[in-house]
Amino acid sequence: MVKFSDIKGFIFDLDGVITDTSVYHTEAWHQLADKVGTPWTQDLEDGLKGISRMDSLNMILDAGGVSNNYTEEEKVSLANEKNDRYLSLVNKMTPDNILPGIKEFLDSLVSNGYSISLASASKNSPTVLSKLGLTKYFSNVVDPASLTNGKPDPEIYQKGAQILDLKPEQCIGIEDAESGIESINGAGETSVGIGSRDTLKDADILFATTKDLTLDNIKKAMN
Ligand code: BG6
Ligand code: MG
Repeated sequence: MVKFSDIKGFIFDLDGVITDTSVYHTEAWHQLADKVGTPWTQDLEDGLKGISRMDSLNMILDAGGVSNNYTEEEKVSLANEKNDRYLSLVNKMTPDNILPGIKEFLDSLVSNGYSISLASASKNSPTVLSKLGLTKYFSNVVDPASLTNGKPDPEIYQKGAQILDLKPEQCIGIEDAESGIESINGAGETSVGIGSRDTLKDADILFATTKDLTLDNIKKAMN
């Protein structure tokens, strides 16, 4: 592992790290799975985290063996339906939906001169950040529409370092999803997982909750 003193930037996932929107994504996808007749399982739920909208839809259709029942046009309309449901949940969000410790952590990064970027697969990130009142921290956001491949491919975390003008070794990526940890590791950055070892097997550093996400704890884990 690289030394803590080499770290210059932090690249954040959004859903499930900064705020609990992963619960909203899950709720909206679960409804869609019921509609197309795909049985909902914990594995499917975990596997969808971090995955782009169309890739998620395809995973759900594949899991139910119903991919061939829908035209491309119908798939787009299913994805839109899910997104409308998701946005109706996001609409009710306020700064109270920021996960514990995140605001303090962001402030500590700013006051210690670290660079910050966002590497979320979500096209709704700007809306969510604005609802949370966190837009000012994220002037560097990777546009998921610019990606050739979504998570678990390293591309999004590579771009998260590039927009900060940093090398991957100088960056820490923070994720709640297995696909995201794989993306960070593939990019050659240090991965911090938020959650349990069961799902985040390959995280370099693991914290059970965002409350534990502090510069001191990261430093201790790295040195
Ligand atoms: C990721 C979420 O951050 O964004 C996924 O973990 C979601 O659950 C993906 O599917 C895409 O989000 P959106 O908002 O563009 O549909
Ligand atoms: Mg996430």
